[in-house]
Amino acid sequence: MGLTRRHFIASSAAMVATASALTVRQTFAVDRKIELIAGPTRIKLAGEAAASSDLWAYNASSPGPQIRVGRGERVQVRLINNLPEPTSIHWHGIRIDNAMDGVSGLTQAAVAPGDVFDYDFVVPDAGTYWYHAHNKSWDQVARGLYGPLIVEEEVPVFEPGHDLVLVLDDWRLDNSGALDLESLGSLMDWSHAGRLGNWLTVNGQDVPKFKLTAGEPYRIRLINACNARILAIDPARFDARIIAYDGQMLAAPEAPPDGQLLIGPAQRVDLLVVPSSKVDFALEEISGDPFVMAAFEVTEGSDQAPDILHFVTNDLPQPNLAAARLIRLDMTGGAMGRMGQITYKGKVLSGQDFRDTGQLWAFNNVANLAEAPLFAASRGETIVLNVHNDTAFAHAMHTHGHHFRIIERQGVKIDGTSPWHDTFLIASGETAKIAFVCDNPGKWLLHCHMLEHAAAGMNTWFEVL
Ligand code: C2O
Ligand code: CU
Repeated sequence: MGLTRRHFIASSAAMVATASALTVRQTFAVDRKIELIAGPTRIKLAGEAAASSDLWAYNASSPGPQIRVGRGERVQVRLINNLPEPTSIHWHGIRIDNAMDGVSGLTQAAVAPGDVFDYDFVVPDAGTYWYHAHNKSWDQVARGLYGPLIVEEEVPVFEPGHDLVLVLDDWRLDNSGALDLESLGSLMDWSHAGRLGNWLTVNGQDVPKFKLTAGEPYRIRLINACNARILAIDPARFDARIIAYDGQMLAAPEAPPDGQLLIGPAQRVDLLVVPSSKVDFALEEISGDPFVMAAFEVTEGSDQAPDILHFVTNDLPQPNLAAARLIRLDMTGGAMGRMGQITYKGKVLSGQDFRDTGQLWAFNNVANLAEAPLFAASRGETIVLNVHNDTAFAHAMHTHGHHFRIIERQGVKIDGTSPWHDTFLIASGETAKIAFVCDNPGKWLLHCHMLEHAAAGMNTWFEVL
């Protein structure tokens, strides 16, 4: 499904005018206690002329409030569930205490309607993270239950007004301009690329405008909150450099790859931009015809050279490849995919019997969570996952509680150190090896972040003892 403004071109023009000088919401958690009320709300996603959408959101806004804390701080969030169904919150990318990971059915019971749950955890690493519902995520995230979670460095690298958070989401709207709820759970989406939208928002808005001053350094934090869409951008078009992936700061800013930088669902990319002149620029999605997501208006500044920025990396455990244990992960299923005998809920099924379960994908011929983990690691053990994508689609693999390095792609070793990630893209037919130290005890999910794929089988878990 392509992104188009076909139906909403007039209303979007109006939105641009009113969305100027959007400043980022900041919820500095002064007393460290934050209340997130998950509940239904009505929001016009596509301008005043369009119909209202029935969303589910935190504190009646999607994205939910920006949670911004300092590295090493304790975060206390009370989730109040005003939804008509159970929910939970996952703090994506945080190397968190397992009991606070928010995975209903694995690390906690889902929070029933009317109930509350107190999350209480410490954030060990600075960076760009996000939070989202983790019960029926394919449905609850598509309805708007997510928000940004920013952990600041001890010594802030950028001035407060120079740290922009852009949460990107594609919504599927119907012809009235309202969120299309009927197509939630569509077999077509689940068996193909997942639920793709036709309307893109940044911080819930259509082409928000940001005002920048020439000569000053800005950090632009991009968070892909789409259920399944891989976003392609070209930061070189506005001379941006990459300073972080998935929350983890690079040792020094890097030039973006030639052509396209792909941002898979749940991935984050932090850019460094120093607008050099009074030339406005746009952040565009370029997988099809260039599509403007956000506009940046540059005003004249001083010609003083900006201060040197000091980038501080987080201290993550280095994989010990010499002593690593290799775990194979074969991805199968989906439309046009191979499917043999699959184990689901302890039963070995094939053909129609398997299709009747509603599951469509598998890891190592097991659909969804089995009783036994994919592997159990002793604390401190390095695991290398050897991932083979034997399906017709790309996937966005996410490890809970752990960041990894990609050490091999298509059989070719990656020399030196590659960036840390908590989610990586693997194209159809591709192989990749990722390495990480299992240093955080508990039960952790490993799943495709194309949320329909996860719901339909691409979901497993591992245990750190
Ligand atoms: Cu961002 Cu298991 O999720
Ligand atoms: Cu997938």
